[in-house]
Amino acid sequence: MVPNTRILELGSFSDEQYGTLVALEATKEIPFEVRRAYYIYGVPENETRGHHSHNKLEQVLICVSGSVTIALSMPGENEEEVLLDSPTKGLYIGPMVWRVMKGFSEGAVLLVFASEYFDESDYIRDKDMYFIKAKEYFQK
Ligand code: TYD
Repeated sequence: MVPNTRILELGSFSDEQYGTLVALEATKEIPFEVRRAYYIYGVPENETRGHHSHNKLEQVLICVSGSVTIALSMPGENEEEVLLDSPTKGLYIGPMVWRVMKGFSEGAVLLVFASEYFDESDYIRDKDMYFIKAKEYFQK
């Protein structure tokens, strides 16, 4: 995997008759204190979102309905695509990872947990600037 990312296999309580429940606790299944959650839906299949990195923010992405592909990249690594197609599959993304969300299926809902309150100054939205900052960050 691209550094600072990993797949989280989320446990579930499944019942043939009543369906499935997934429970997530801060600092346990979600590996940080959760300060914010948001969700993205209604994205046309040919549209992409993201195209940014964060300086500090940690996130867990879960596609709770439908599917979406997350393209992850950073300097010196091959781009990696992670298909989120199950409500029991999470993707942890730490700081300094460039991400693009694409290929949203019809009805896809992408739920995101975040370690910090919204802060536009934590975003790196310029890819050239991202490569400069990421090279410094990963040299440490
Ligand atoms: P952005 O993170 O750029 O969306 P994406 O990466 O999915 O394309 O956010 C889109 C807009 O929503 C932007 O104007 C900032 C706003 N926003 C908030 O106000 N709070 C939040 O928690 C998030 C994630 C976004």
